[in-house]
Amino acid sequence: MKRLNIGILGFGTVATGVADLIRENHAEISRRTGYEFLINNIFVRSLDRANPYNLPLTTNINEIIMNPEIDVVVELMGGIEPSLTYIKTALEQNKHVITANKALIATHGNELFKLAAEKGLMLMFEASVAGGIPVIKSLRESLIGNKIESLAGIINGTGNYILTEMKEKGRSFSDALADAQALGYAEADPTFDVEGIDAAHKLTILASIAFGIPLQFDKVFIEGISKLESDDIKYADQLGYTIKHLGIAKNLSEGIEIRVHPTLIPKKELISNVNGVMNAVLVKGNAVGPVLSYGAGAGGHPTASSVLSDLADISRMLDADKEHYVPYLAFQNQALSNAPILPQAEIYTAYYLRIKAVDQPGVLSDITHILAHHDISIELMIQTKSVEDNLANIIMTTHETKEKAILDSIRQIEALTNITGDTTLLRIESFGS
Ligand code: HSE
Repeated sequence: MKRLNIGILGFGTVATGVADLIRENHAEISRRTGYEFLINNIFVRSLDRANPYNLPLTTNINEIIMNPEIDVVVELMGGIEPSLTYIKTALEQNKHVITANKALIATHGNELFKLAAEKGLMLMFEASVAGGIPVIKSLRESLIGNKIESLAGIINGTGNYILTEMKEKGRSFSDALADAQALGYAEADPTFDVEGIDAAHKLTILASIAFGIPLQFDKVFIEGISKLESDDIKYADQLGYTIKHLGIAKNLSEGIEIRVHPTLIPKKELISNVNGVMNAVLVKGNAVGPVLSYGAGAGGHPTASSVLSDLADISRMLDADKEHYVPYLAFQNQALSNAPILPQAEIYTAYYLRIKAVDQPGVLSDITHILAHHDISIELMIQTKSVEDNLANIIMTTHETKEKAILDSIRQIEALTNITGDTTLLRIESFGS
């Protein structure tokens, strides 16, 4: 039996999952690939740690990245440095690389793919987006006959877990976050989860693969869920919507939208019903129509399942000519497009507004006058008494309009004498499936 020699960097939840799967599923893996997967060595910070299968451990990184016996280096440490330096060195040493590191691919992928291409090596990252869902492979390979028009995803399990717990159990934001951390879903810095940075890393990668553009994390519009109020979850529910933290990318003739923000979605749509730590990615291709992939977006075994898929691909391509590799970002490296990423103020969508106003005659007419002046059409409106004396919550949804128009309107509405506090602005999307 041929052998694939693997060096792993890091021995956390995902690396432990990889070790578990290689042990539990080795017969199935060999039947499928014709290879035995062997973990030669694992780079750890300290040898004083749990090691259930007595795998070889080292605190000397060179024993992996400079070791000529190792075919593939699997980076599962996370963070930018030293992972970036280790991956570059591994590529320079002619090793194929697999990483689950979305932050690294989103922010340094362009230079890493260039280096890998120069060396004729594979650099794979299925585990970097949506945990166990094979979304990269399906976009890059199975949907190759389509022009991808748009994608929308719940791509952060921690955020989805928090929103689900808040909505279904009325739990507080901080309680639900503490649970997600204890369950091992959250990033080392959980602000990456709740402020949308983790989702933006993943969306950057998906948008590149879907539309054939370079990775452009710095152009993604990002809004988190930490300021979302339970009142808005409740009002959205009354209006027939669920709020999800979505990553959305659209390929339009005038440019590309890439944005992460809390989003109201009609309750009847499938993606509205993706709950807990589960992730889902909805892709629309011009031939296939909508395709929804659903699965565990975080956790050791699901993420390790994606790492194993990359290991299998590498084992199959080890002796192949590099021209036969699937391109890193799904499109030929020299064929990436320079389509502009649209500024957020230029996007068109529908909106949810919650305005706090003094409850007296004329207030509503002032508000609707401003919206009409900006050519914004109101879809529906409810007014509720606020707990504060003589204040009303005016909740409105609009038809599709330009974001700049809604922002300009809010500025004028907030300047009215009878309006108090900040207006809540959320976006509404409907995917029709
Ligand atoms: N913190 C991430 C999440 C882990 O909650 O989805 C998987 O990338």
